[in-house]
Amino acid sequence: MSNRIHTLSGYFHEYQKSVTEPEKFWARIADSFHWKKRWDKVLEWDFESPDIKWFVNAKLNITENILERHLYTIGDRPAIIWEPNDPSEEGRTITYRELYHEVCRFSNALKSKGIGKGDKVIIYMPMIPEAAVAMLACARIGAIHSVVFAGFSSTALSDRVNDCGAKAILTSDGNFRGNKKIPVKEVVDTALENCTVETVIVVKRTGQEIDMLDGRDYWWHEVIEGHEDNNVAEEMDSEDMLFILYTSGSTGKPKGVVHTIGGYMIYTKYTFENVFQYSQGDVFWCTADIGWVTGHSYIVYGPLLAGGTTVMYEGVPTYPDAGRFWAVIDKYRVNQFYTAPTAIRALQAFGTEPIQQYKLESLKVLGSVGEPINEEAWHWYHTHIGKSKCPIVDTWWQTETGGIMISPLAGITPTKPAYATLPLPGIQLFVMDADGNKLVGNSVEGNLCIGFPWPGMIRTTYGDHDRCKQTYFSTYKGMYFTGDGVKRDHDGYYRILGRVDDVINVSGHRFGTAEVENAINEHPLVLESAVVGYPHEVKGQGIYAYVICDMTNRTEANLTNEIKESVTKIIGPIAKPDKIQIVSGLPKTRSGKIMRRILRKVAEGNLDNMGDTSTLLDPEVVEEIIKGRK
Ligand code: WT7
Repeated sequence: MSNRIHTLSGYFHEYQKSVTEPEKFWARIADSFHWKKRWDKVLEWDFESPDIKWFVNAKLNITENILERHLYTIGDRPAIIWEPNDPSEEGRTITYRELYHEVCRFSNALKSKGIGKGDKVIIYMPMIPEAAVAMLACARIGAIHSVVFAGFSSTALSDRVNDCGAKAILTSDGNFRGNKKIPVKEVVDTALENCTVETVIVVKRTGQEIDMLDGRDYWWHEVIEGHEDNNVAEEMDSEDMLFILYTSGSTGKPKGVVHTIGGYMIYTKYTFENVFQYSQGDVFWCTADIGWVTGHSYIVYGPLLAGGTTVMYEGVPTYPDAGRFWAVIDKYRVNQFYTAPTAIRALQAFGTEPIQQYKLESLKVLGSVGEPINEEAWHWYHTHIGKSKCPIVDTWWQTETGGIMISPLAGITPTKPAYATLPLPGIQLFVMDADGNKLVGNSVEGNLCIGFPWPGMIRTTYGDHDRCKQTYFSTYKGMYFTGDGVKRDHDGYYRILGRVDDVINVSGHRFGTAEVENAINEHPLVLESAVVGYPHEVKGQGIYAYVICDMTNRTEANLTNEIKESVTKIIGPIAKPDKIQIVSGLPKTRSGKIMRRILRKVAEGNLDNMGDTSTLLDPEVVEEIIKGRK
């Protein structure tokens, strides 16, 4: 049974039903899944505590809805297509039948190592099929996975192991990434100097020399030997934890966002099918890493729950050259391609030459996620990748939301560059002002809140429920607060303005940093920018802009003036940056998020303590920025 929406009026109709009778709406969607026992009640909730339960007392196993469900109908269809880092190495295609057997065999192996229901398992692996098998095997036996991006440092890894009390780590010897070979197991070994786990299981990927500790470390290929390739999935409660995923907030140590089984399951499949308009037989490619929620929901769970074919790519966008994404799209005839604006901008910088030799004719839908997409990148993506025929779905959501919340439905919702457009069915958005009032009507701007539960939402922050309450449910009474600023335009369309923790108040006027950045980025020589506020004697806050640009044939002075002009033209003189520092790079986490905390400190002249820079992609950049401070 499909719950796919096909028309714009169908969308409005479904949306209406989802708001007037939410329980009936989600029960109908949940009906198309396999439950071992049906729920007593669809929803129990209270945003005060918070306490949210979907499909109360229902029993299920999410992997039955991925594996058994598809075994006899589409068992021979590719579930995962894996593309290795090196294009000359042969990839792997894993059918649903093969995936079933691999997951069963590995889950039996995990059980033989004493891992079972309720245990926490860290997955610290590169983008190889075993990573997906590992996630599903955990889900099959009722263990709770916590995937840690394999680019994180050993300190970040040990912090997470300690925070969730992990019993095991699943990892690899190494990782191929571009022309580099990364020593993954070595990082695990270093992490384990500061934490303990009983078991480490290691996939042989690079074949590099590694240490194996007797009685703790096992090779994946040895550990699965002799185990049956089928088993019965553990019976789980709908509200049992499926996974913990750590996400860095603007302050403090990363918090473990907890998602539970039943709600996450129906939400990821429903949003996957509707946003991307995925049809059976299509090939879907999300370029995220499984270390991020995007990888969880739209490489693994969403596509596989839908019986889809999901592409998993081990490498980086520019290896061996800037045409790699386009080569992979042609190679597998990818129909839906989902990536981040940062990747689009990075590739845009190479011009259109690397695209020329590829057809890209299989593409039907393009997606964007993770940050506001600037208009220039949107148009480049639309024109050069989508050949002006593919709708772009700009999908807004968060680790905490589990799945896409605001997005066009591909080919159905009319799009506007840089707008995430409209909420998905079931998502009741509120635009709030600083005093806690709901802003009604269109053409309003405020803080984005959600006033009613949705199945994929965060349940708690692991080990610290109060932090969940404080972070998300205390700013606005009775609401989930997203931390994002938003504009609802004259058409009722939503545009995300960026985190409100980054809102700058200049002479009483508020600007989203993303809004100012968008304007700066409109300058043709600007590649990327980041804007923060700093204390200003007259205006309260001034605007400080860090800008990466093409300096060929320009002086700093004339570029700076042009950028100011450009901002004046697009937003108004009041948003004109007070200071512009030309830089060669920005301090980014490995997930591509700019660490604004560092930029703010430099802008404020608070240079003695930069805080934790261990998760930065390129820590040297900080030195350069301090030296060039305006
Ligand atoms: C934050 C969440 C959602 C998975 C990847 C990021 C920003 C996300 C968009 C978008 C503008 C976006 C928001 C949000 N964000 N998507 N389409 N347009 N902003 O997950 O790391 O939890 O980050 O990313 O600021 O709050 P995350």
